[in-house]
Amino acid sequence: MCGIFGYIGDNKNPLHACLDGLAQLEYRGYDSTGIAGIQDGHLIVCKKEGKLANLQNILTLKTLEVAIGHTRWATHGKVNDLNAHPHLDTMHSLAIVHNGIIENYDALKAQLKNEGAAFVTETDSEVIAHLIAKHYEGDLLKAVQTALPFLHGSYAIALIHKDHPDQIIAAAHHCPLAIGTNDAQTESIISSDPNALVGGFLKILFLRNAEIARIEKGNVQVFDSHGNLIVKTQERLECAAKAPSKDGFEHFLLKEIFEQPITIRKAMLGRFSSETAKVEFDDLKITAEEARNYKQVWFLGCGTSSLAGSIGAMYLEETAKIPAFSEIASEARYRTELIGPETLIIAISQSGETADTLTAMRAFKAKGCRTIAICNVKNSTLTREADYSIDLQAGPEISVCSSKAFTSQIAILALFALHLANLRNTTSAEALDLARAMPFIANQIQTVLEKAPQLEKIAKKYAHFDDFFFMGRRYMFTTCLEAALKLKEISYVNANGYAGGELKHGPIALISPTFPVICFCANKKTEEKIISNLMEVKARGAPIVAFAPDSMTQIHSIADDLFTLPTTIDPLAPFASAVAGQLFAYYIAKERGCDIDRPRHLAKSVTVE
Ligand code: F6R
Repeated sequence: MCGIFGYIGDNKNPLHACLDGLAQLEYRGYDSTGIAGIQDGHLIVCKKEGKLANLQNILTLKTLEVAIGHTRWATHGKVNDLNAHPHLDTMHSLAIVHNGIIENYDALKAQLKNEGAAFVTETDSEVIAHLIAKHYEGDLLKAVQTALPFLHGSYAIALIHKDHPDQIIAAAHHCPLAIGTNDAQTESIISSDPNALVGGFLKILFLRNAEIARIEKGNVQVFDSHGNLIVKTQERLECAAKAPSKDGFEHFLLKEIFEQPITIRKAMLGRFSSETAKVEFDDLKITAEEARNYKQVWFLGCGTSSLAGSIGAMYLEETAKIPAFSEIASEARYRTELIGPETLIIAISQSGETADTLTAMRAFKAKGCRTIAICNVKNSTLTREADYSIDLQAGPEISVCSSKAFTSQIAILALFALHLANLRNTTSAEALDLARAMPFIANQIQTVLEKAPQLEKIAKKYAHFDDFFFMGRRYMFTTCLEAALKLKEISYVNANGYAGGELKHGPIALISPTFPVICFCANKKTEEKIISNLMEVKARGAPIVAFAPDSMTQIHSIADDLFTLPTTIDPLAPFASAVAGQLFAYYIAKERGCDIDRPRHLAKSVTVE
């Protein structure tokens, strides 16, 4: 959420380096973009509401000696040019960019205003500029060191000052910030996401816990919050230029949906042997004794990742016979009181930067729990802070709406359930069934993808409706929630997901001929019950779209529109069904003319709570 980038060095024009960096970070927010730099002793700022292209359209600057940039996901203050970062102090001497939330900004603003600071924006971030300016007496680093303890909340900031064109000051507290330098010591780059650093081989360090860095050309010094110089370990990272491509697809989302047969295979590659049904995760060092000592497993995540956790919990209970719970990370963090080391924590996140998930994981870690991150971004904060991490190996997910990450997450969770079952010596029938069926998932997804035109046709028929009711039971309940989330997110239509059994407890009052019911039926164990639910819906005149396995013959006479799915065991039915749900949402969004890869108000990485 919000992306920060900065460049100082000889290898590139800092202005262009920054614009390139912001293009890579735009997934973190695209409400507005801005750049600040120094040229001939002058501080220059250019900022614009909307995506980076809007800024580039108005940019007349040619070059800068040093530059910082920002791409915004609005929290405090309207989406407009004025509230775009960078923000300045009253004298326009310094400029800051900020990612995070300053929780006490109101009190600070009132105090700084009293002292004469001239505020021009509605943002919380502007207080940082004024606060640092207040403490500036010629030494920029010192001013930041003095100012930071007054800030409550989370931040990653980068700052430049017109009298110090040879440095950028950066600081981070609960928000990611990577700093890279090249071997020749001719350039330094800062970025909210190390994957946006482009420059061959770089030595990278990450700022954390209110650390402050003075960044010069090819040189970085880091200080703790008391001003002591600290030695940070640097990692060597290959930062190759890699512009993401749609590979001929109309949108990244469609490309990523179609990648799933491959990403599923990648998730299993080198980890699962269909011959022996054994699972190995390279970086996971849980012993059999440790596995037996766990009394329960908790899954933490947000949005789609949280729904993957719900499926993971079912896998663990059925396969490894251990109680498992999935809780939305922003709620779970308040439920640690009764938890201790007997609980294993699995934090799931595509980006590895979701603040809610990080905060929850830290809270459980503080209670002595072991933590495993399941993540798609190597080197993300989550993977660095968890005890162990399992990489999704799904490749970058560019579309804000998650697709391939979800199916890879649940593939890994199925493997993890088998692994834990093995370690705990619980060879259940369910584990054997799961191991036998796993190798067929990719082909089942392929079957759905080949029938995409059929889904497009159904979606077009229903695209004019503004309200949808999604329904399913057991594995299909979670799947219907995920499908409803996709539809809301990219089509901006109201889509409620309910467990079929809940229909009669209230939501049935909504059912009417103008309220299509989208039913996910591929859960064999609950087939008869979901049919009864559909009959209740049909009796009240709602149009029915069913996503059902080809073995479910009864559905033909019930559904108005039917999309058939390959038959598989219940635990693995979410794969093909979720892909069908993704395509359904995609085609509705396309029909409604929505901005599919960058839906309004959203960002790919949500780094505020
Ligand atoms: C939905 C979606 C979001 C994310 C959620 C968590 O399509 O993308 O609901 O799943 O914001 O993000 P990560 O997985 O990066 O923690």
